[in-house]
Amino acid sequence: MNKKIALVTGAAKGIGLATSQALVAAGRFVVMVDRLPIDLSEASLTDDDALAFQADVTDMAFMTRLQEQIKERLGVVSILVNNAGISPKRPDGRSSGILELTVEEWSRVLNVNLTTVMQISQLFLPDMKAQGFGRIVSVSSLAGRSKSVVAGPSYMASKAGILGLTRAIASEMAPFGITANCVAPGRILTEMAMQAGEAVNQRYAEQIPVKRLGTADEVGASIAFLCADSSGFINGATIDINGGFFMS
Ligand code: NAI
Repeated sequence: MNKKIALVTGAAKGIGLATSQALVAAGRFVVMVDRLPIDLSEASLTDDDALAFQADVTDMAFMTRLQEQIKERLGVVSILVNNAGISPKRPDGRSSGILELTVEEWSRVLNVNLTTVMQISQLFLPDMKAQGFGRIVSVSSLAGRSKSVVAGPSYMASKAGILGLTRAIASEMAPFGITANCVAPGRILTEMAMQAGEAVNQRYAEQIPVKRLGTADEVGASIAFLCADSSGFINGATIDINGGFFMS
């Protein structure tokens, strides 16, 4: 394989799909993983661009086999995009507040959104280190950078945790040519955001200086930028993509 290989989690739709398309446009070969089926042709992708797997990313036995298979069949994964994430909502579209939150929800969200990011990074880092090049981009959130309008405590904690984990990887792995960065999207019009309902999203958009929600393509473009060979001096950074709703 003469293209650099990227692995994108949560790639069936939304930000993960847009990121996969942006990476393909940038000349990468993308291994896409999602618990939902992925239709390459529907995403205007071919077998020359990407390979799709249906799996739960918390299944580390599967992810370990996948890492071995990719290495054997295609080569070393140079780019890892930790995008898969969940934000559970109650039937009324709201998140659990701190007094309603159960340990079950807390553990599930922390496991998918944070522990798995650590484990999958551990899985792919040794080969990146051996080859002296790697790019890891993890999808945090405005909810991890500041307060959140719609997300609950488990989501906020998991997304804040990604920022700390990224800084740790960025400090330790940069001497080996590996950078680790985050994007922190604000309200992006994907299925996850639609769960909150149109009225909530409309009210949200009115408070954003650019007066609209973001698109998955806008986030995918920033992730692809951080994955570029020429982005090697950006390390441990977080790009806020929120239309100016939160400025730091
Ligand atoms: P989405 O719900 O449209 O897509 C998420 C994808 O991840 C889905 O295809 C889903 O099947 C997959 N996924 C979830 N858990 C998985 C698991 N355990 N194993 C395999 N696949 C799994 O959501 P969206 O909006 O594209 O979100 C992507 C990332 O962006 C998430 O980490 C989310 O927290 C983050 N984000 C989204 C924002 C938004 O407003 N949409 C704002 C800030 C962050």
